[in-house]
Amino acid sequence: MVITIDGPAGVGKTTTAKKLAEKLGFQYLDTGAMYRAVTYFLLNNSVNISSEKDIEKMLDILNLELDFSSYDNIKVYINDENVSSLIRTQEITEKVSEISALAAVRKRMVRIQKDTVKNGNFVVEGRDIGTVVFPEAKHKFYLTADYDVRAERRLNDFISVNEEFNVNKIKQDLIDRDKYDSSRKLSPLSQALDAIVIDTSNCTFDDQVNQIYKHIERSKIK
Ligand code: DC
Repeated sequence: MVITIDGPAGVGKTTTAKKLAEKLGFQYLDTGAMYRAVTYFLLNNSVNISSEKDIEKMLDILNLELDFSSYDNIKVYINDENVSSLIRTQEITEKVSEISALAAVRKRMVRIQKDTVKNGNFVVEGRDIGTVVFPEAKHKFYLTADYDVRAERRLNDFISVNEEFNVNKIKQDLIDRDKYDSSRKLSPLSQALDAIVIDTSNCTFDDQVNQIYKHIERSKIK
């Protein structure tokens, strides 16, 4: 079974998806981490991103591995290098929208996402999971929150990788990234018509997880 959680940047999808998965005994998949890893890989190898051919060639030698064994820390490896913190830097955050809008990248990532969930029950989070990747999922959620709340949450990501930060810049970056992610041609960020929307601006973290959990439990008795 697949449960989808979509929504804009910094809205708490990852922490929510992890906790929900833990409560349900499911695995979880952070598809944003996959797009971040590809961004890191292409930038690190100075690939010309305007050439689809060059990108495809590089993707052929990309060995992306995701370790879901701990609910606390998903580990991401590229060709055996642990890049889990390296993909959370501001540099990658600023570039990831552009890279994730590329057709060759999306095609490859969606294929990995579909293959991954074949082997079990998953909570999958991202931007297009309920709309494009798993439109048939029974439970779909879409998280939203005010920009100020989201900027504060993102701040913690940067602190955890010891980067300098400025909350106003983070807020502006979130606005820009949402605009880019929502207006791109391929699989833009959008709410599935059958998704349940949860505004997390004034929720504690436990509240937002419980709201989702209750929806799922309730549907079992219907
Ligand atoms: O959730 P995040 O901030 O780690 O995601 C990073 C970027 O990856 C986001 O700006 C857009 C892209 N992304 C995507 O295009 N599709 C997804 N399913 C998940 C993320």
